[in-house]
Amino acid sequence: MIHKQKKLEGQVALVTGASSGIGAGVAKALAQEGAAVVINYASSPDKAEMVQAEIKSQGGTAITFKADVSQEQEVIDMFEHIRKAFGTVDILVNNAGLQKDASFHNMTLEQWNYVLGINLTGQFLCAREAVKEFLRRGVVPERSQSAGKIICISSVHEVIPWAGHANYAASKGGVMMLMKTIAQELAPKKIRVNSIGPGAIRTPINHAAWDTPQGLQNLLKLIPAKRIGEAEDIGKAAVWLASDDSEYVNGITLFVDGGMLLYPGFEDNG
Ligand code: BGC
Repeated sequence: MIHKQKKLEGQVALVTGASSGIGAGVAKALAQEGAAVVINYASSPDKAEMVQAEIKSQGGTAITFKADVSQEQEVIDMFEHIRKAFGTVDILVNNAGLQKDASFHNMTLEQWNYVLGINLTGQFLCAREAVKEFLRRGVVPERSQSAGKIICISSVHEVIPWAGHANYAASKGGVMMLMKTIAQELAPKKIRVNSIGPGAIRTPINHAAWDTPQGLQNLLKLIPAKRIGEAEDIGKAAVWLASDDSEYVNGITLFVDGGMLLYPGFEDNG
């Protein structure tokens, strides 16, 4: 057993959609544990560079890379770039995701395809390229007991239906089965695939739910722990799933949701 000072020392992590929100929080948490981090972004180089600067100011290693995860060639090019920069990749955090909300009868095919393209196809494309690299390299015991780790950022909405968000909920339900299926397929190759299912985390994606006192009060009714989550809460879970501390954990969704999945509406009813 090799004891490392930092849990992810010597490893390379790609975090997609890492210029803000949960992705930025996860990138910083992995860097703090010694991973060299690739901060992928689609449209905000300035924000990605701010995350990079923060990591560097704390002595970490980080680069930024622009790629739209729904585009096959851009994803292939990104992995090629990472191999040239760092030699390999050990950890993929499939985080890039978005919402385009609409009532079902008004949802356009464009809104549907856009969300499925990034939230589900994007996770497929990145996972596929990561797995090719993990299989090529195999286990290097000084780095990790696994040949590679994939963490899919899903949502409580992989199980909780969500009116007005059919595209988003369907994408997250899809992520759950993608994650479980490739976990089953790849466990014999020492590749671990798991998800994190965040609840309501204070990020730009859901600002309308928390940036007014009334909105926050309504939101807290759905959270038994009575606080909104922070990106750091997800970062800590990602460090655990990426490290050898979770070496025997395959194919789970770790919900980090303050108890949102406990059906708090039933607390004094039903
Ligand atoms: C959504 C957020 C929402 C949370 C809890 C997340 O997956 O992106 O907008 O606040 O689930 O409902």
